[in-house]
Amino acid sequence: MDKIIIEGGKRLSGTIPVSGAKNAALTLLPCALLTDEPLTLRNLPRLADIDGFQHLMNQFGVSTTIAGSRPEDFGRVMTLAATRITNSVAPYELVRKMRASILVLGPMLARMGEATVSLPGGCAIGNRPIDLHLKALEAFGAHIELAAGYVKAIAPDGGLPGGRYSFPVVSVGATENALMAAVTARGKSTLHNAAREPEIVDLCNLLAAMGAEIEGIGTSDLTIHGVPRLHGATYRVMSDRIEAGSYACAAAITGGDVFLKHAVIEEMEATVQALRDAGVHVEPRPDGVQVAADGPLRAVTLSTAPYPGFATDMQAQLMALLCRAEGASVLTETIFENRYMHVPELNRMGAHIETSGRTAIVHGVPRLTGAEVMATDLRASMSLVIAGLAAEGETQVHRLYHLDRGYERLEEKLALLGAQIERLGGD
Ligand code: UD1
Repeated sequence: MDKIIIEGGKRLSGTIPVSGAKNAALTLLPCALLTDEPLTLRNLPRLADIDGFQHLMNQFGVSTTIAGSRPEDFGRVMTLAATRITNSVAPYELVRKMRASILVLGPMLARMGEATVSLPGGCAIGNRPIDLHLKALEAFGAHIELAAGYVKAIAPDGGLPGGRYSFPVVSVGATENALMAAVTARGKSTLHNAAREPEIVDLCNLLAAMGAEIEGIGTSDLTIHGVPRLHGATYRVMSDRIEAGSYACAAAITGGDVFLKHAVIEEMEATVQALRDAGVHVEPRPDGVQVAADGPLRAVTLSTAPYPGFATDMQAQLMALLCRAEGASVLTETIFENRYMHVPELNRMGAHIETSGRTAIVHGVPRLTGAEVMATDLRASMSLVIAGLAAEGETQVHRLYHLDRGYERLEEKLALLGAQIERLGGD
C-alpha cells in the first residue's frame, strides 16, 4: 500500500487550486437518475469516491462518459445518461465501501417507483443510521420494507403523492434524499429543519436547472412543487469548502502565505472565523481566498454544528493547527459521537490533547515531531498531514486510501506550495 512521506518545517507559499466539492458531487451524480436525458457535470474532482459512484451508476444501466480533461488537469467532465434503467438495486459490496450510495434511494424511487439499497452498516466515525432518510420518504408517501440487510422503498401507483416532513435532527444526506424524491412527486412537499449546507444549495440549483420547482433554497424550510418530468442539464460542481479549509490550516501551521484559488469565502465563514480567532489572516480576493500566518497562533474554543456552524468535517484539521497555538483550545464535537480517532496519532507526534466524551482539550505545544502514523477516516488522515507539515523531521502517513477518497492529488498540490512531500508505493 502507498504511503506519504513528509519532511516537515517547510513554509508553504504560492497558489493552490481548490477542486470541485466531493460531497456536492456525490449528491449531484445521482440526479442523473431523475431524467432520461443526459446530465453533464463539470469540475468533478478526481477521487476514488467519484469513481465508486460512477461504478454504481453503471450498475443501474446508466452510461457515463468522461471528456475533455488531460491527465495533468485537476477535475474532469462527466456526462451521465440514464436513458433506460436496467436495475434498481444498490448492492452491499458497493454501499459498504461508500456510504453516499444511499443517495440513490430518493431519485431511484422517484424515477422507477421502487428502489432497493443495502443498509450502509457502521462506519468509522460513529453509528450513522439512515432512519431520517426513510422517515422523510415515508412522509412523502413511500412504503418502506427492511429485510436481509436491505431497505426497499416503494411508491404507490402513479408515483409519490408528496407530503410534509420536519427533521428532528439536521441531516445533510436525508435532506438530499428527500429533495430528490420529491421533485417529481404528484403534489407539493415541504421539509422543515432541513440541512442548508452549501452542498444542499448546489443540489437545489442543479435540480432547478433540470426543471424542478423548489422554494426556500438556502433556508431550512424547503417547499418542492412536484413536476411531471425533469430534463437534462449541464452544471458546474461547486468548489470544495472543506478542501479549501484544510489547505488553509496547512498554510497557517507552517506560517505560510497561500492563495486558495476558486475558494468561496461566503461558503466557509465559520472556518474563516475560527482561523481569524486563531490569529490567521484570511481575506477574500477575486476568484479565491488568501490565507497568511505570521505571528503566534492563539487558542480557540468552539463546537461543531450544522451549517452555518463550524463543520464537523473541519474539526480534525483545525485541531492539528491548534496543537501549535499558545494556550488551551476546547473543541466539542456535536455531530458524530466517535470523531477523535486522530487524537492518539497527533499525540504520538508530540501533541498534548485530552478527550473526555465529546470534548477535546488541545494544549498548545512548542513543537511537533515526525512519526509513522495512520488514521481511520478521511479528515483524520488530513489532520496528520497538516501536523506533519509543521513537525520536525519525517512523518509517514499510511492508509492513503482515505485521503484518496477526498483529496484530489494531495501531494501534488502541496508540492506546488513548496512542501517536501512524496508518495511511495508499497508499505
Ligand atoms: C454528510 C457528509 C459528511 C459530513 C456530514 C455532516 C456527504 C457525502 N457526507 O454526511 O462528510 O460529515 O454530512 O456535515 O455529504 N443521522 C441520524 N439519522 C439519519 C441520518 C443522520 O440520526 O437518518 C444523524 C447522524 O448520525 C449524525 C447527524 O444526524 O449524528 C448528521 O448526519 P448527516 O448530516 O446525515 O451526515 P451525512 O449526510 O451522512
